[in-house]
Amino acid sequence: MTIRFQIICLIFIAATLCALVPAIRDQDDTKDADWPVYGGNNAGNRYSSLTQINKDNVKNLQPAWTYDTGENKPGERGMDIQCQPIVIDGVMYGTTPKLKVFAVDAATGKELWKFDPFEGKRPRFHPMRGVVYWSEGNDKRILFTAGASLFALNAENGQLVESFGKNGEVDFHDGLGDEATYGYDPYQFNIRNTTPGVIFKNLLITGSSVSEGGDALPGHIRAFDVRTGKVAWVFRTIPLPGEYGYESWSKDSYKKLGGANCWAGMVIDEKRGMVFLGTGSPSVDFYGGARKGSNLFANCVIALDAETGKRIWHFQTVHHDLWDRDIPCPPNLIRVRRNGKIVDAVAQATKDGYIFLFDRDTGKPLFPVKEVAVPQAKSLPGDQPWPTQPVPVKPAPFAYQTLTEADITTRTPEAHAYVLDRFRSSNKGPKNQPPDLTGGLLYGIGGGAEWGGTAADPEGIVYVNGNNMLWWLKMRDAREVQGGEKSQVLSRGQVLFNTNCAACHATDSQTSTASAATQAYPVLKDIGQRMTREQIGPLLETGRGRMPSFQHISKEDRAAIVDFLLKTETKPAGNDIHVQTATIATKRDASFPYQPPYVNNGNVQFRDPDNYPAVKPPWGMLNAIDMNTGEYLWKVPLGEYPELAKQGIPPTGTENHGGPLVTAGGLLFIAATYDEKLRAFDTQTGKVVWEYPLPAGGFASPVTYMVDGKQYIAIAAGGTRYGLKPGGNYIAFALP
Ligand code: HEC
Repeated sequence: MTIRFQIICLIFIAATLCALVPAIRDQDDTKDADWPVYGGNNAGNRYSSLTQINKDNVKNLQPAWTYDTGENKPGERGMDIQCQPIVIDGVMYGTTPKLKVFAVDAATGKELWKFDPFEGKRPRFHPMRGVVYWSEGNDKRILFTAGASLFALNAENGQLVESFGKNGEVDFHDGLGDEATYGYDPYQFNIRNTTPGVIFKNLLITGSSVSEGGDALPGHIRAFDVRTGKVAWVFRTIPLPGEYGYESWSKDSYKKLGGANCWAGMVIDEKRGMVFLGTGSPSVDFYGGARKGSNLFANCVIALDAETGKRIWHFQTVHHDLWDRDIPCPPNLIRVRRNGKIVDAVAQATKDGYIFLFDRDTGKPLFPVKEVAVPQAKSLPGDQPWPTQPVPVKPAPFAYQTLTEADITTRTPEAHAYVLDRFRSSNKGPKNQPPDLTGGLLYGIGGGAEWGGTAADPEGIVYVNGNNMLWWLKMRDAREVQGGEKSQVLSRGQVLFNTNCAACHATDSQTSTASAATQAYPVLKDIGQRMTREQIGPLLETGRGRMPSFQHISKEDRAAIVDFLLKTETKPAGNDIHVQTATIATKRDASFPYQPPYVNNGNVQFRDPDNYPAVKPPWGMLNAIDMNTGEYLWKVPLGEYPELAKQGIPPTGTENHGGPLVTAGGLLFIAATYDEKLRAFDTQTGKVVWEYPLPAGGFASPVTYMVDGKQYIAIAAGGTRYGLKPGGNYIAFALP
């Protein structure tokens, strides 16, 4: 044995030992002083090695400071704050409900600067989950998107960086393609970005949020040069003719359909130079007649070369998606033990409650994945559901899969009877049964896992909060909704409403018998009692929350929709309107890339008559899953309804939006619940060891960091979700 070989062996043994004994960790408590990126670190693990706040002393945790954004005041119609802020060198950067960006002193909450992307313009409102930091020497930048603009700010003073794009701003449509390729001008349609991208060297790699209807832009992954704002590379998630994956669509799909976008964020392995991300479903959500095939790279976990955007591997989690089963959160880069070896892996949670685990280099599943046959008989005309769908054999799903009679709520006899009645009259079947005209109750249109994401620790434990919510999906013939030959004559406003708005808001006739409060989207039947023309008009232009802007519809058409909603249409229903309707249909055919022949009934969550979830608890839960073995360490309800607790009902868990934070102090922090509390769980047992009633719901993920030797836990408390009161604060906690 040469000395060199011996040394190599020694290094190898030492490395193996270190890897096998992850408990011998670097306990340097200043190492994770910052929270430099969305998701905590490049691996997206929402994990911190800080231990000052730990199981023994967490009971003493108390508010250290509050930063009031000045927005979402009591009584205001607020926006939730979904932002997980970042902290660099003692400065916290985050966003306000109205999408302003701020910097505050992370030890005191004192505002350093604030930037309004819409100054002098009509504001846009949409979810915004965070910002990105980049630096090179003294050049320190904050990058973020608002509406269809990508901005670069000087991190020190909040001023636009003039040399970036046009005076600090880049059109976020750049790089998507052109009219010659697509037959329509991509710049005409909506795009925004709800989750921040990642930095690799001098590149900002980013996904996007696009429409899920006939006006959807393609969800290509793009890299922008951080210094200039120029597009550096594009990975087309809907391939063009000749590109890999093109054959998995109909011939002209790419000219009609969009989506397959990464709206939930991505993570990066800097050493390998690889970026990992999950994509959403292709448009339109529930009908695939114009996209026969498996539809690569929609609903995929994808590994790209961060330098070039070239695909390294992909794995499709839903083939030919007919259920809106987007990948709803970024993956986690973790390390697991396999046959005595440590393997670098990628874990991806899904809306329907699976966690897939892949080898990071090859994309090979580390637990077997079965392709399970799907019933084919009842698909909608023109569609061709995929015959199988992937199911990982491990871990077991963390959310309910297929509704059975045994799942139906027994909270009260009345609630049970109500849900049973809908169940009996609906189309029962496995969860991968294609949507149809009868209607069915299913899980997974919303998570399962949600955008708050998952946390992971160095031992390969993944922590995921989940939801067991039921949805009512019923398709309709679009001619019926559009006022075509099949139906009665409809007004121009109603036709426009049905094609543009009903997918979320439902038409009158589609509204389920449950009360308005049980709908995931506001029911607009009596909107005239709540809002005036002067309020609705601007809302259609700006959008709000998950409601997109409709600026691309002409002013006259927007006015016609408002007339329809306020029942102030002047023209009587008659032949002339029928003619007009036909004209609109042609015009819209020309201006929208695609008109689906079947449309869904709105995004309707199905609840019991008292507005509780329609199935047995847990309704919301928190899980700790050992990805070395695929076994659960624990599973507990997350949150409770105070009034049910008073009746002696054990914690049910509640619907939850916002992610976990795990620390080496043995703690998991999470808010996210209907009861508006921030909680700390013991990571070993799943027991609640501390809780704090926030001034408004914390529908965001918490962060931790250290300034001047003091560890803080901070979270945005924006409320507003689930009909709760709004709030406009960020709150930081520390030990006394
Ligand atoms: C992608 C889903 C979606 C689409 C499409 C959509 N909306 Fe909305 N809409 C929402 C959501 C979500 C809200 C609640 C927004 C909030 O306050 O956070 C909303 C709110 C509203 C409100 C205010 C209701 C209230 O009680 O405050 C009006 C009015 C409205 N939408 C009209 C429309 C019209 C008209 C269209 C079609 C031109 C439309 N929406 C299309 C999702 C949608």
